[in-house]
Amino acid sequence: MSEHHTHAPAAEGGLPYPMTLELMNRFQEPEVLAAIADLQLPEGSHGLDVGCGVGLYAQWLADAIGPDGHILAIDHNPERVQDTVQRLQRTSVADRITVQEGNGTDLTLPDKHVDWVWCADVLHHIDDAVGTLREFQRVLRPGGCIVIKESQVLPSLFLPGYLDLERELQRAEIQFQHAEAGPRSFQERRQRTCQTMCEAGLSHITVRTSVVQRQVPLDPVAQQYIQQVIFDRNWGPRLRPLLSDADWERRSALCEPDSPESILARSDYYCMYSFTFFIARAVGSS
Ligand SMILES: C[S@@+](CC[C@H](N)C(=O)[O-])C[C@H]1O[C@@H](n2cnc3c(N)ncnc32)[C@H](O)[C@@H]1O
Repeated sequence: MSEHHTHAPAAEGGLPYPMTLELMNRFQEPEVLAAIADLQLPEGSHGLDVGCGVGLYAQWLADAIGPDGHILAIDHNPERVQDTVQRLQRTSVADRITVQEGNGTDLTLPDKHVDWVWCADVLHHIDDAVGTLREFQRVLRPGGCIVIKESQVLPSLFLPGYLDLERELQRAEIQFQHAEAGPRSFQERRQRTCQTMCEAGLSHITVRTSVVQRQVPLDPVAQQYIQQVIFDRNWGPRLRPLLSDADWERRSALCEPDSPESILARSDYYCMYSFTFFIARAVGSS
């Protein structure tokens, strides 16, 4: 899922953007927490979260590195900084996270300042991804690591059994994002993350993909994420001009909540979604 605009409209497809981000994060929560645990970030380490969104990942990362750790969470959108500050006030890790407005492409930190850099679902939005990754390397201490998380490097499955329609919806989404992404789609940019990291001089890159699989009965978060974020927002009216009449009708029959054919109302419904960690060690590290 993408923000599409640097300063996204407050409500697109009916849901305020911070809520969309939170649902996306919560939908993946158990698998993300397991994948973060697998990273074995050192207890008491200092990290940087670039493009922190609503701050849920910063919160989970702070839990993973324990009470002596510290995270600087930055976002170039002041509204997201505000969202994160508000969220963290209600958590036990607030004093271990500093939230600031900042741009991942031009960090204000000194060289070799952090033990790890985390950047989730952000890099594909940045045109100078190679320069940004070099900036991440600059602030990384020897032995540190850079974790780039990207969702849906593998196309997702939200309409099992409707392969052609789902492909058309994915094609239309790519076309919709064309204005922001330019000649190389977000999907292509995500898939090229490894190549981009190599171009930035990173080596020893590990690729780890986790699959989020849900089936009926769906938990409330999965139900809300799929209906309101995937079906109503991502595949909502914004895609109408990019689909044939027949595909739009089929999409509406399967995806509208009140439709008698609503796919989410079926007792055999399941979905699959993935996210990928691209993990690199700092150049010159041990
Ligand atoms: C799709 S959201 C992901 C947010 C969060 N990391 C997550 O996974 O939920 C992308 C975020 O990156 C931020 N962002 C985009 N480009 C950025 C940049 N160059 N520097 C800092 N933040 C950036 C946006 O403002 C937005 O909050």
